[in-house]
Amino acid sequence: MAMAVGLPKTLTILNSGHSMPLLGMGTAAFPVEPQDLVESAILSAIELGYTHFDTASVYQTEPTLGRAIRQALDRGLIASRDNLFITTKLWIGHAERNLVVPALRESLQALGLDYVDLYLIHFPAKLENSEKSFGVRSEDLVPLDMKGTWQGMEECVRLGLAKSIGVSNFSCKKLSQILSFATIPPAVNQVEMHPLWQQSKLRDFCAEKGIHVSAYSPLGGKNAPWGSNAVFDCEELKQVAQAKGKTLAQICLRWAYEQGVSFLPKSYNKERLKENMEIFDWELSKDELKKMSALPQSRIFRGENLVSADGLFKSVEDVWDGEV
Ligand code: A2P
Repeated sequence: MAMAVGLPKTLTILNSGHSMPLLGMGTAAFPVEPQDLVESAILSAIELGYTHFDTASVYQTEPTLGRAIRQALDRGLIASRDNLFITTKLWIGHAERNLVVPALRESLQALGLDYVDLYLIHFPAKLENSEKSFGVRSEDLVPLDMKGTWQGMEECVRLGLAKSIGVSNFSCKKLSQILSFATIPPAVNQVEMHPLWQQSKLRDFCAEKGIHVSAYSPLGGKNAPWGSNAVFDCEELKQVAQAKGKTLAQICLRWAYEQGVSFLPKSYNKERLKENMEIFDWELSKDELKKMSALPQSRIFRGENLVSADGLFKSVEDVWDGEV
């Protein structure tokens, strides 16, 4: 009798009841790349079959993503905007009860959309100036009014501006705080995650609380100011990839997939976008997974730039509540 061969699972159901594609395209690059290049990369991705796109107010790619979506609709690459899953993020300069809804409305206008699928608090701190830049100065950071900001996020859902809401860069401790007052629990925590920073503790916590983990910099954020080449330079990963006949990037993305998280590799190159999708029809062996789980662990984005003697964060441990 023929065995029924299941299709690979490429979606997850969030605690909001909405589904989210596990593979998403990241659109953050600093310095910001020419937007015609970014637009054509997003269009290539849609052509290849990507349906999930991750942006943020601070990335300056919202208008570009919006243009690419309109082009894709015009060209008939997608039948409807509803076929896509779009995430954007609240910049920390707007992390305040009454600024959240206006900030999302501004993002929606930039995107040319009526709603986003997922809206995230970008980082658990408040910035005391209106500059939208990754060049955050530690002395401009103050504590986040978590309750007020989360109430603003919940209002986004009630107004139909966001289907799901969540957070990014939150520790177990900060997630517990949100959960203590949330009427809508966070659906997602988007965090740095790759074989050299596997987030075991946070993933256990999130699994217990029904919060989906999404991996940013799943390749270690090569070329990004918050990333490094450490993942691509890792000898053990090179060996696993070579023995398997896969690329190192594919090994990392397949690993993320097998952990049950969603993953958001950034590439503006059509071949690499394609390569990064080709991870659903093979698997890592027990031995390969064992080798990968034994890799020494350390965060790449430590947030040293956010630390100062008399600022909000006095040490890197403070930034991440000891999860370093
Ligand atoms: P590029 O945009 O030129 O493809 P991360 O997703 O961890 O943030 O990593 C993104 C970095 O990794 C970018 O510099 C991107 O460059 C590069 N990259 C993405 N996919 C691949 C791949 N399959 N092989 C090599 N480099 C890749």
